[in-house]
Amino acid sequence: MSDFKPTVIVTGGAGFIGSALCRYLVGGGLAKVINVDKLTYAANLASLGSIEDSPDYAFRQVDICDGAGVRGVFEEFAPDGVMHLAAESHVDRSIDGAAEFVETNLLGTFQMLEAARGYWQGLEDGRKPGFRFLHVSTDEVYGSLGADGLFAETTAYDPSSPYSASKAGSDHLVTAWHRTYGFPAVISNCSNNYGPFHFPEKLIPLMILNCLRHRPLPVYGKGDNVRDWLYVDDHAKALWLIWSKGRPGEKYNVGGRNERTNIEVVRRVCQLMDRYAPDPPAGGHERLITYVTDRPGHDARYAIDATKLETELGWKAEEDFDTGIEKTVRWYLENQDWWQPILDGSYAGERLGLKS
Ligand code: NAD
Ligand code: DAU
Repeated sequence: MSDFKPTVIVTGGAGFIGSALCRYLVGGGLAKVINVDKLTYAANLASLGSIEDSPDYAFRQVDICDGAGVRGVFEEFAPDGVMHLAAESHVDRSIDGAAEFVETNLLGTFQMLEAARGYWQGLEDGRKPGFRFLHVSTDEVYGSLGADGLFAETTAYDPSSPYSASKAGSDHLVTAWHRTYGFPAVISNCSNNYGPFHFPEKLIPLMILNCLRHRPLPVYGKGDNVRDWLYVDDHAKALWLIWSKGRPGEKYNVGGRNERTNIEVVRRVCQLMDRYAPDPPAGGHERLITYVTDRPGHDARYAIDATKLETELGWKAEEDFDTGIEKTVRWYLENQDWWQPILDGSYAGERLGLKS
């Protein structure tokens, strides 16, 4: 087995999935990581405390829309590849204001592609064939499923929200860079992630923290929309496999085969909160469930067929929803020092995504 440890630029490494990926790569001795992050509201360097002093980890605060800044990172670190996660990621915020989504997700990806392509073209022959650019995308580019069927890599793009449209556009740029310039890029499209260090605007951490604060649990519409949940560490492992073994020009779907309706997810959180943070005088946490106005353009169902990733690259999710959600609830109960500053500062739990 080779003891070569590649140097990889991870964009968005201070976010939810990016920080899990940095911890996995550096903590597991798999790669040297340069975390390139603008530090938006969604970033949290505290999520990287376990690796911040490692000689295999460096951080540069750079906006991916700043081409010169990005090129500077390539010159400074001479990487073997890129894992591109930096994005505006929250659907509800994209409904309230799409500009930053178009800028970062579309134009930022364009700047990343151009900086990486220029660097890759100048690489010496020995290093050029091994260079890889992994673009981390979402299953939301495929739009909404009906009651049956799964998203395959061949499913036509049909995005519904400003967020998913901006991610779909960025996927198309990446594919074009491969077809036109032979640029060694690969794309992953993943379903809903959950786990520790998840910003509390998203469904699962919001429900946990609202339970703790005895606040209503806002369920959009009837709560019958379906998401396919994947524990974030399983996604990090998939991304490493795809970066290191995936074929350039290919797409790989990533998903945990864990479909749940939103109301099932919220009820499960309530049951775990009843067990680990009981509130006997007030009663069970399900009393807090409140049905609220639906999200505009709300996709009904997402579900991933991950056969290609499983058979071609040997990936398999280690957590199922029951084990992963229990770990997640317990992590939030034990890590108030991580989430309290967020609630006190950039996001207190207010409803997003209703502006028209
Ligand atoms: P996140 O919102 O938690 O983190 C995004 C990170 O990107 C933050 O640290 C932020 O500071 C950084 N960033 C934003 N704009 C930037 C810019 N202009 N320049 C540099 N850095 C910038 O997001 P996440 O949930 O960790 O998602 C990461 C990626 O994975 C995104 O590309 C997202 O589309 C994709 N994805 C997410 C999920 C999910 O369930 N969360 C599922 C599939 C795919
Ligand atoms: O499918 C992958 C996508 O999953 C990623 O690309 C996105 O970056 C990520 O944010 C996530 O998007 P969703 O819109 O599915 O996640 P969110 O947590 O916002 O919502 C999950 C479901 O729960 C969705 O059907 C809307 C619903 N919801 C959400 C919130 C915040 C509620 O019912 N109430 C809420 O308060």
